[in-house]
Amino acid sequence: AVEPDLRGRHVVVSAGGTREPLDPVRFLGNRSSGKQGYALARTAAARGARVTLVSANAGLPDPAGVDVVPVGTAVQLREAVLKAAADADAVVMAAAVADFRPAAYAAGKIKKKDGQDPAPIALVRNPDILAEISADRARPGQVIVGFAAETDDVLANGRAKLARKGCDLLVVNEVGERKTFGSEENEAVVLGADGSETPVPHGPKEALADTVWDLVVGRLG
Ligand code: PMT
Repeated sequence: AVEPDLRGRHVVVSAGGTREPLDPVRFLGNRSSGKQGYALARTAAARGARVTLVSANAGLPDPAGVDVVPVGTAVQLREAVLKAAADADAVVMAAAVADFRPAAYAAGKIKKKDGQDPAPIALVRNPDILAEISADRARPGQVIVGFAAETDDVLANGRAKLARKGCDLLVVNEVGERKTFGSEENEAVVLGADGSETPVPHGPKEALADTVWDLVVGRLG
């Protein structure tokens, strides 16, 4: 039997990957399937939490007993996370959020013109949601967890990211075209702002999710 150690708690999880539209047909996106975030939502619900799942383009079935808020872009994801975080005990940002979006949106499909070079795509910065909610906590004692998707110098980049973002815990996982994204399994090190390091061996995404909730429960008053 699962210990209901999140009963009476509201947790917010973001999942999936944002899509930043260029025109009605194209977008800039990433390879997140949403599976890690959905595993976090399912395991939190199994442990008794009220769960809000802010889901960006995941295309997965809604987990039973979870409030799902569908979003498309980083700006929409920010709005939904800020709203849900207002009364949350914990927020876990598993979504892959685009750091940049196209500076302009073309109302009609962008056409290629004969004999002309393609126009460069100008980008502007998206808001950093994890840094914002960590710097300006909606409630005292709210526990905030980020993820770091890295391809090289995984741990060193993770430590630097934890300091930069200001969250309590950072789940550092290695990604590649066929690594972690879309897979049923993951492998990670969970770094704590207190200097702790919790390695999670290769296994189902639910197992990593349960370790994250164990660490969150330990930090909730
Ligand atoms: O969805 P799956 O296929 O199961 O794959 C899981 C995963 C690899 C997507 C997941 O485990 C993961 O690593 N998610 C975070 C991906 C990511 O955006 O990492 P990042 O290192 O670029 O961002 C660091 C953190 O800041 C993340 O918590 C991210 O949600 C947050 N962020 C990033 C940019 C931004 N503008 N705002 C943010 O809040």
